[in-house]
Amino acid sequence: MTKQTIVESFAELSHPDVLEEFDRASLEELVAKYETPFMVLDLSEVEYQYKSLKAALPGVKLFYALKSLSHPELVKRLKMLGSFFDLATIGEIDLVESLGIRGEQCIHTHPIKKDKEIKRSLEFGCNRMVVDNIEELKKFIPYAGQVELIIRVSFRSKQAVVDLSRKFGCALEELPLMTDMAKQHGIDVVGLSFHVGSQSLSPMTQANAIRSSAAAMKTMNSVNWKFLDIGGSFPVSYQEAVLPIDDFCIPIMEALSELPEGIEVFAEPGRFISGPAMIEVVSIVGKAKRSAKTWYYLDDGVYGGFSGQMFDHANYPLAPLKPFDATGEFLPSVLAGPTCDSIDVVAEDIELPEMEIGDILIGKRMGAYTIVSATEFNNYPKPKVVVVEDIFDPDTESL
Ligand SMILES: Cc1ncc(COP(=O)(O)O)c(C=O)c1O
Repeated sequence: MTKQTIVESFAELSHPDVLEEFDRASLEELVAKYETPFMVLDLSEVEYQYKSLKAALPGVKLFYALKSLSHPELVKRLKMLGSFFDLATIGEIDLVESLGIRGEQCIHTHPIKKDKEIKRSLEFGCNRMVVDNIEELKKFIPYAGQVELIIRVSFRSKQAVVDLSRKFGCALEELPLMTDMAKQHGIDVVGLSFHVGSQSLSPMTQANAIRSSAAAMKTMNSVNWKFLDIGGSFPVSYQEAVLPIDDFCIPIMEALSELPEGIEVFAEPGRFISGPAMIEVVSIVGKAKRSAKTWYYLDDGVYGGFSGQMFDHANYPLAPLKPFDATGEFLPSVLAGPTCDSIDVVAEDIELPEMEIGDILIGKRMGAYTIVSATEFNNYPKPKVVVVEDIFDPDTESL
């Protein structure tokens, strides 16, 4: 987090419309009611994000990626909206099953699975699974006739904050070997998938991946292709603004129009749906002058709700709840988490207005890859999640 971005972010939020995207009175009510640290999950925002993406990708079936945030209330809301689900683990299967979601409404997209994970997915009724290598394909020989496999292809991307194709996906050149082997063993291969990386800052990697996948399907025309899964990657604005989702999806839709006739298209959005739907509310619990800086100690940090700063490379916009003078003095400061570890620093080399113990800070767009990767290091409990409706005003939310 650079000094400039945080100062800009504070300055932006110190506008007369401080926290303009929130219903401020509701936030204050929540602060009075719940002990910090806590997260606020706004289900109407989940709905808004889901519908925005659906509108930007007409005809594309959305499978929400549970890994980004698996709160049952969010899953229930998406189920109600007609969403499908992208699963990767037995734990995720157990969760969606307990919420009345059926296997046919899901795909299992983890490219590496234990046999017991394959069995559990089939027992649940989810028979569409992803493979990306020959050894994984061999695991399905005993299940020939019971599964529909999707082969994940790697398309590396410098435009994505998290380059997932580094770890998963085969080269396009490996496809014939895999489809031939599947055929020999009577295993149905029905689709291709890719994930160009999470928080992708340009839609062109995805558009190019669609075109390459379409070309591969046309060349390998003996395979009964039914699906193309274009993964997740749809970005949200953290400290930097990203393209509005309608604009982001235009080149993607153009590329999709070049697919062979009859191919159904899936996407696996996580971050775009969950990210903007949750904020974190923390308190300043300590303050110390160290060298020329003021250190503010918060009651949560990178071992907790801010874990995405470590694992997801995200820099969340932060704002004080109480109004402050944007033209006033800003002091060199550090925001630190509560644990005993020195890595537990949320923001360094920043300039902040003078704050006091007891002041509240709001971390925005903290729904994706935050609480799901939080730990209880030092026996600090994870922040609780409070579920609300309509605390953020979607009309002023920048996506
Ligand atoms: C297989 C798979 N699908 C979907 C997602 C969700 O991606 P995003 O949050 O970028 O939408 C991920 C993220 O890691 C993933 O690994």
